[in-house]
Amino acid sequence: MKFPAKVKIVEVGPRDGLQNENVAISAENKIRYIELLNEAGFSEIEVTSFVSPKAIPQLKDAREVFPAIQKKSGVRYPVLVPNERGMRDAIEAGVRDVSVFTAASESFAQANIHASIRESIERFKPVTQLAEANGIRVRGYISTAFGCPYEGVVAPEKVYDVCKALLDLGVAELSIGDTIGVATPNQVLEITPKVIEIAGADRVALHFHDTRGTALANILAGLSAGAAIFDSASGGAGGCPYAPGAAGNVATEDVLYMLHGMGIATGIDLDKVVLASEFLAPLLSRPLSSKYLQAALRQR
Ligand code: HMG
Ligand code: MG
Repeated sequence: MKFPAKVKIVEVGPRDGLQNENVAISAENKIRYIELLNEAGFSEIEVTSFVSPKAIPQLKDAREVFPAIQKKSGVRYPVLVPNERGMRDAIEAGVRDVSVFTAASESFAQANIHASIRESIERFKPVTQLAEANGIRVRGYISTAFGCPYEGVVAPEKVYDVCKALLDLGVAELSIGDTIGVATPNQVLEITPKVIEIAGADRVALHFHDTRGTALANILAGLSAGAAIFDSASGGAGGCPYAPGAAGNVATEDVLYMLHGMGIATGIDLDKVVLASEFLAPLLSRPLSSKYLQAALRQR
């Protein structure tokens, strides 16, 4: 198997991690958590969402958190925006990178953003226009690419169609999401090369949740299929409240341990990610799932 020499990790803990934790975390603690992640050397940290506070109460303080983050030069701090309203709020807060999000299955799109896939693409048009006018980079998420909590199997062609629609809107990077952690490596080996053919390897990220323990195997499959961008959350926090049963994202520590062991560079300091997760852990109502984190803490 041939692997890339270098991989980009997009840390999504402060957004995907915190959006589904059923405890209130203060803006101050979120800012400190992001500061600790910053110290670990990520080139991209997804920090919050400018969405309806009724939909995601955990991130209702986006307007307070985003401006307070110490931005490091050369680092991207994307936020989720669902519509023009969120985009205008994000611009006002000084955001330079946003992510729009839709799905490869209709039922999930309805549950998550109250729109069909086609409607969601229409909704993104003013977002991408505003992005272009303001020099903002847009990432596009495609949820339920490997399976849907409501519909089950999702045809890969649906994923490719949504990828093309997002690229037509001017999205710079695609993130292919296994929202509920059902993917197995054969699916990753099928879908990844095709999405890379559509978008180019430098524009394709894979986003795995570890609900059924297959996330690292899926990353290995993604690497061997040419993917070099992966999303993960420190400690393995999170999930999506509109994806019943979805567990946390694959843990950044576990991904880094595997990649560094394979000689693949990330530019991220694993020990410092552990420090960020250690800060987060007591603020949550359940233990963090990262295997590496647990092993590191046992050795103290
Ligand atoms: P809606 O109810 O259809 O839209 O929601 P609406 O325009 O009628 O607005 C409803 C209410 O929200 C109104 O307030 C609006 O003002 C307000 P009310 O009049 O009821 O008081 N509103 C907003 N407030 C703040 N910021 C905004 C905004 N827009 C409307 N931007 C909508 C549609 C999309 C807005 C809503 O469903 C929503 O915000 N959904 C967010 C869902 C979400 O964030 N899900 C989690 C992220 S996706 C994910 O986790 C998957 C991912 O990780 C990848 C993967 O794993 O697959 C990315
Ligand atoms: Mg997710």
